[in-house]
Amino acid sequence: MRLIIYTGKGGTGKTVTSCATAIKMAERGYMTMVISADPAHTLSDAFMMQEISYDPRQMIPNLTALQIDPVTEMSRQYDPILSYMASIFSAKGIDETLAYEIAMLPGMTQLFSLLKIEEVERTKSFDAVVLDMPASGEALRYLYFPKLVGSIGRKLTGLAGLFSGFAKVLQPLAKIPAPSREVINSEMDFLDRLDELAKIIRDNDVTSIRLIANPDTFSIENAKRALMSASLYGINVDMAVVNKIMAGSSDVYYAKWASYQRSKVQDAKANFYPLPVKEVQLYGTELRGIDMLRKHGEVLFGTDDPGKIFYRGKPYLFVKEGSAINMTVQVPFTEKDDFSIERYGDQLTVSVRTPVGQIVNIVPLPIATAGMKLAKAKLINHELNVLFEKLS
Ligand SMILES: Nc1ncnc2c1ncn2[C@@H]1O[C@H](COP(=O)(O)OP(=O)(O)O)[C@@H](O)[C@H]1O
Ligand SMILES: [Mg+2]
Repeated sequence: MRLIIYTGKGGTGKTVTSCATAIKMAERGYMTMVISADPAHTLSDAFMMQEISYDPRQMIPNLTALQIDPVTEMSRQYDPILSYMASIFSAKGIDETLAYEIAMLPGMTQLFSLLKIEEVERTKSFDAVVLDMPASGEALRYLYFPKLVGSIGRKLTGLAGLFSGFAKVLQPLAKIPAPSREVINSEMDFLDRLDELAKIIRDNDVTSIRLIANPDTFSIENAKRALMSASLYGINVDMAVVNKIMAGSSDVYYAKWASYQRSKVQDAKANFYPLPVKEVQLYGTELRGIDMLRKHGEVLFGTDDPGKIFYRGKPYLFVKEGSAINMTVQVPFTEKDDFSIERYGDQLTVSVRTPVGQIVNIVPLPIATAGMKLAKAKLINHELNVLFEKLS
């Protein structure tokens, strides 16, 4: 099974691009499923069809669409564990409604959309899944959870264990409710599924993440961060899409916007280097309905197979050297260019002077570098190599 995940900031075009990709793949004969975990109706809106609900529905031959509700998924699959964790907090006198909120870990709802993939994979009835992933990749960190917990004694150190331990720290003498057999079983099952999901997502022959941005600073930075996290987690990113680019105009106001956006497209290319970057214009009308989605698919892929792996490689590489971290980033310029590097908090900015003006490359840094200083930076060919060392 091939898995393609579109991610990016809200409104950039993830849902429509997921649908367009899925249509193209179905037409090529792949048994395809497009899954969206965005708030209700997104797939119905994109396809302009009613009633794409929480049951899979066939859209065109070979294409099934599934809208999932992360909250429903979560309570269906995870309720025993969540209730147990909430009971720990409410045993501490925390209001029960609030206890549920606290027991929810960040990115948890998103994780349940991802777990759906593991479920679909098990049915063995699809060649391809295209996932429209809400928000950024917070949930991807949980792919490491099974590793962390290990296979032996999972029930003692899993999520419930984590929380009961946490509760003990809060109030050492209080009585912690013991997890029931149901909680333990459901936790074991959860960890096994997470393990399977991690295998699927971290297999570079199966899974590709594709970044979607618009020609603006914010969405490009957001996508760049997703690229960095994916690299940290060992997930392949094979393409970036810059969507909604305005065409030029004779009107001064629009011409100014179009020219600004052209500079942002250059920024995007520098920032996503060496990924292939697809440019898509802002169409004359809102992009929706099967016909427009199909056209969007043609603009994106032409005669290419959308299921192809468009890029393999490591735009970012992190190597631990003793207590130091060596980071290598691919950049679209070389030591012969006039460039400067500066660190602002959790990112490096590399500014390069080019004939068409200054291009800024944003390099998001992993959290591990937070207490470290930038000790050395060198650029050889297209590789920027930066060494971070412990402060003292
Ligand atoms: N290239 C485009 N031209 C015109 N409208 C677009 C284009 N790409 C996306 N849209 C519209 O922008 C809105 C947001 O797209 P959507 O796919 O829902 O974004 P996301 O899923 O990233 O939040 C939708 O109304 C969609 O039809
Ligand atoms: Mg969406």
